[in-house]
Amino acid sequence: MRVGVLTGGGDCPGLNAVIRAIVRTGTYHHDCEFVGFRDGWRGPLEGDTQQLDVAAVRGILPRGGTILGSSRTNPLSDSAARDGKTGLERIKENLANLGVDALIAIGGEDTLGVAATLCENGVNVVGVPKTIDNDLSATDYTFGFDTAVNIAMEAIDRLHTTAESHHRALICEVMGRNAGWIALHAGIAGGANVILIPEHPFDIEEVCDYVEQRFKERYAPIVVVAEGAHPKAVGTSVINAQRDAFGHIRYGGVGQLLADEIQQRTGKEARATVLGHIQRGGTPTAFDRVLATRFGIHAIRAAAEGAYGQMVALRGTDIVRVPLADATTKLKLVPPERYAEAEIFFG
Ligand code: F6P
Repeated sequence: MRVGVLTGGGDCPGLNAVIRAIVRTGTYHHDCEFVGFRDGWRGPLEGDTQQLDVAAVRGILPRGGTILGSSRTNPLSDSAARDGKTGLERIKENLANLGVDALIAIGGEDTLGVAATLCENGVNVVGVPKTIDNDLSATDYTFGFDTAVNIAMEAIDRLHTTAESHHRALICEVMGRNAGWIALHAGIAGGANVILIPEHPFDIEEVCDYVEQRFKERYAPIVVVAEGAHPKAVGTSVINAQRDAFGHIRYGGVGQLLADEIQQRTGKEARATVLGHIQRGGTPTAFDRVLATRFGIHAIRAAAEGAYGQMVALRGTDIVRVPLADATTKLKLVPPERYAEAEIFFG
C-alpha cells in the first residue's frame, strides 16, 4: 500500500512526531510505502513530493515545525483550477499518477474540512487533528497545545518579575482566534491577574478595576489576552484586515489596545508583549510527543484497515476514530463555568 502524508495549516509542535510514527509503524507493521507531499494541500495539487521513509524520519521526534512543510492552500477554491480541471480533479490525477492509494492529512479544521470533501468525492483520506488552539470539538486535546501553553506560561513567569521591578502593568497577547484555551491555561498556570478570552467579551472599566486593585496591593498586574478577545463596547475582535485562503481574518492588536486604554484610564504605565509564533515554534513537550506518536500509530492503522473518512481523536485516555466531518462541524469553546473558575483569581 502506498500512502501519501501531508501537513496543512499553521504548523505546530508535534507534527514531526506524528509523521515519524506513521512512517515507522506503517513500514514495520503494515507493509506500507510512503510519499511525502510538500506544503499541505499544495503538494497533491501540484504533485510536489519528497521522499518519506524510515531514514527520512530519523531524529525528527524532538524537532519543531514539519519536515513536509505547510501552507494554507485551499485546493477547493476557484484559484486551484487549471487547464480546465478543478482542484479536486487535479489532486485525483496526481494521486493516480503517483500510485497513491490513501492519504493521511494532518491538520486543523480547514485541512480536515478539505479532507472530508475529498473523501466524499472518492479520495481515500484519514485525518489527524492538529492545532495549538485546542478548539476541535471532536478530540479532547490536540498536540501542540500543551507546548504552546508551557511557552506562554514561561513568558508570563518572566513578565511578573520585570513588571514588579518597574511597577508596570504588562499585557501578554497569546494566540487563540475563536477559543481562549491557551490564554485560560497559560493564564491560570502563570498566575495572571486578568485573563481575557474571545468567548467572554470584556468590560474595559472592569479590567482597569482589577489592575488598580493589584497596584493597591503593591503588586504589578499581568493581563493575559487571547488575540481574538474583544471589548464588549466594540463587539468585534481587534483585527488586521488580511485574510488567508480559507477566509480567516488574521488577528492581532488587542494587547496594544488594552495597554493604551489601561495607561490612559489608570495613569499607570502599561506595556504589551505579543508572543505570536514563538508559541508554535520549537521542541514539543513530552505530553505532545506522546499524543502525536499515538495519533500517528492509530492513523496508519486506520489507513491500513481502509477506515477512510475517519479521524483519530483523544477521548479521555483512549485514541478513537470519529467521522472526519465531525472535526469541522463544531468548535470547542471555553465553557462559561471554566472561565468562572479562572475569574476567582482575578485582581
Ligand atoms: O490556528 C492556529 C493559529 O496559530 C491561531 O492561533 C492563529 O490565529 C493563527 O494560527 C495564525 O496563523 P498564521 O501563522 O497563518 O498567521
